Parts: sequence; structure tokens; C-alpha cells
Amino acid sequence: MKHRRLGRSGLAVSEISYGNWITHGDQIEAEAATACVRAALDEGITTFDTADVYAGTRAESVLGDALAGVRRESYELFTKVFWPTGPGENDKGLGRKHIIESAHASLRRLRTDHLDLYQAHRYDPSVPLEETLRAFDDLVRAGKVLYVGVSEWTAEQITDAVRIAGDLGFDRIISNQPQYSMLWRTIEAEVVPACEQAGISQIVWSPIAQGVLTGKYQPGQPPPQGSRATGGAGAGFISRLMRDEVLTAVQELRPIAADAGLSMAQLAVAWVLQNPNVSSAIIGASRPEQVRENVAASGVTLDPAVLKRIDDVLAGVVTTG
Ligand SMILES: NC(=O)c1ccc[n+]([C@@H]2O[C@H](COP(=O)([O-])OP(=O)(O)OC[C@H]3O[C@@H](n4cnc5c(N)ncnc54)[C@H](OP(=O)(O)O)[C@@H]3O)[C@@H](O)[C@H]2O)c1
Repeated sequence: MKHRRLGRSGLAVSEISYGNWITHGDQIEAEAATACVRAALDEGITTFDTADVYAGTRAESVLGDALAGVRRESYELFTKVFWPTGPGENDKGLGRKHIIESAHASLRRLRTDHLDLYQAHRYDPSVPLEETLRAFDDLVRAGKVLYVGVSEWTAEQITDAVRIAGDLGFDRIISNQPQYSMLWRTIEAEVVPACEQAGISQIVWSPIAQGVLTGKYQPGQPPPQGSRATGGAGAGFISRLMRDEVLTAVQELRPIAADAGLSMAQLAVAWVLQNPNVSSAIIGASRPEQVRENVAASGVTLDPAVLKRIDDVLAGVVTTG
């Protein structure tokens, strides 16, 4: 497993991270969750991503239990705040009260005294940006959070935050967490250039498009048993990618992956890691075998000819805006 620096910071992350959205505390049992975390650690993954809101806060507890006993210095723990974690007006968003309270709750569930990266899960237009940034900075100064990141912010929101943090002497934002895959390239036009300029890198989610880029979903066929598309929380999220024209184009990636000596999932993870502004691809897994397969994408270089073949096959089904 190779490591990269996160933004212009001293924090090293494994270029493939493990995330537990949909799976821990929801789709899979605690035993399977622990097996996936163990497989990730065995394969050299050191970076783990979760969020307060996943599985109604249960995902953080499952991850905290799975990592119990592992030397804290040997892994990087990332979580997020924004989406509602309770019924109250202050149980959501990026106001000071919720940020500080949710950070403390995450620390308890994750069974640790510090988070390596604390991320604003979305932008909150209802709160002054200065308030949000000051709350994050106070957590850094208190030693509860080591670095600050955002997720799915626009180029303009990121640029504003960098300017305000600089003016007020706050700790810098070092990362953005957007969706990015061969099928979903919206960050390339504006977010990546703005982040490169600001010394911010991407830690990207759904690099295999929630399983779609494995090719296991066939056009016109029911999804394979036990897969994310079959039901539960995941089915709604994956549905927008499950169009026949997308699934048909994805099947045409098979010979490209085979010629490169990679599985489809490995090709998809390797593809996002070709972008130098990407520090890490966050993979999800419902089974340890998936982790073991997908980590082999670390360190793979894809030739320009391979990238061109991918673009040709997917032309017409890629989301760019
Ligand atoms: N910041 C945000 O707003 C945001 C949003 C979403 C996700 N994320 C982060 O990104 C992480 C990853 O997201 P994701 O789970 O959508 O990523 P993904 O890696 O694109 O998809 C993972 C899913 O694909 C299937 N899969 C994985 N490897 C496979 C293989 N080799 N063969 C067949 N199927 C395979 C599994 O689902 P099945 O086995 O169930 O089919 C697995 O759970 C999350 O855990 C979270 O940390 C962040």
C-alpha cells in the first residue's frame, strides 16, 4: 500500500482508504464489519472514513469497536459533521453548538480522544462561514481534531473558506471529499483547479460507483443477491447509476481491464488515483474479499492509451457537470 500526503499538510494517508457508509450498523452484521476492517488493516490500509450520520450514528460505534486495541498511532481516523443526528434544530448543520457537540459524540463512539481529520460533510449556507471555521479551529486548538476538511463543497465555497481562514489565522483546510469515479467527473472542471491552488487534495468517495464499475450489474437483469442495489439504504443511492445505457457501457470496460491485467474494481480504483490531486480513494466493502481485491489498485499506473480507451467506451454516460 502506497501513502500520499493529504493536501499541503504533513498527514500521510493510505492511497486507498476504507469507509463504512451503508455497510456498518446497517447492511452488514458487526462480525462482517470487523472482518472488513481487519482485512483493510492486513492489506496496509491505514485511513478509515466514517460520519456521525451513518446508520443513525451506529456506524461510528461499529468502527470504534472494530478498531479497539489497534495502536492509535498506526491509523488515521476521519469523520464528518453536518447531516441531522437528532430531532432538534441544533442537531444538524455547521453552527458552533452542533459542531462541538457532534465532535464530542463522535469521539465517544469512536473510542478515541482525537480525530485525525474532521470534515464538514456539506456546506451550510444558513451559518456564517466565520462561525463554522472558528468552531473547527477551536477543536484543533483543543487537540481534539488534528486537521480540517470539507466534503462536496464547490470551488467558490472552498476558495472563500481558505481566504477567511487565512485572514483570521485559523488552521487551514487540507482536504475535500467529493464523489469521483470514471462515471462521475464533476470535480475536474472547477473544484480540482481551485484546490490545487489552495494546497487542498481530494479524498474521493464511491470510486467504483458503489459497485456499478465492477460490472456485476447487467443491463436488463435483476441485481445479484446481497448486492447494494437489492435493497436497504443503499438501493436508493445507487439507483441513479443503474440505467441500462450506463450498465451497457460499463460492460465494454471488461476487455480494457483484462488487457491491463486488472479486475474491473481494480481498474476503477486505479483510475481515480491517476489524478494527482487525489490523495486517497475511499472504498466500501460488504465482504473482506472485496477489500483484498480492491487494494491491489494501489501503485498501478494506467497508460494514456488505456485512459483513452476508457474515455471512448464511457463517452455519453459520464457525468461532468
Ligand atoms: N462525503 C460523502 O458525502 C460521502 C458519500 C458517500 C460515501 N462516502 C465515503 O466513501 C466510502 C465509500 O463509498 P462506497 O461504499 O459507495 O464506495 P465504492 O467502493 O464505490 O462501493 C462499495 C460497494 O461496492 C461493492 N463492491 C466493492 N468491491 C467490490 C468487488 N470487488 N466486487 C463486487 N462488488 C464490490 C460493495 O457493495 P455490495 O457488495 O453490497 O454490492 C461495496 O460496499 C463510504 O464508506 C464513505 O466513507 C462519502
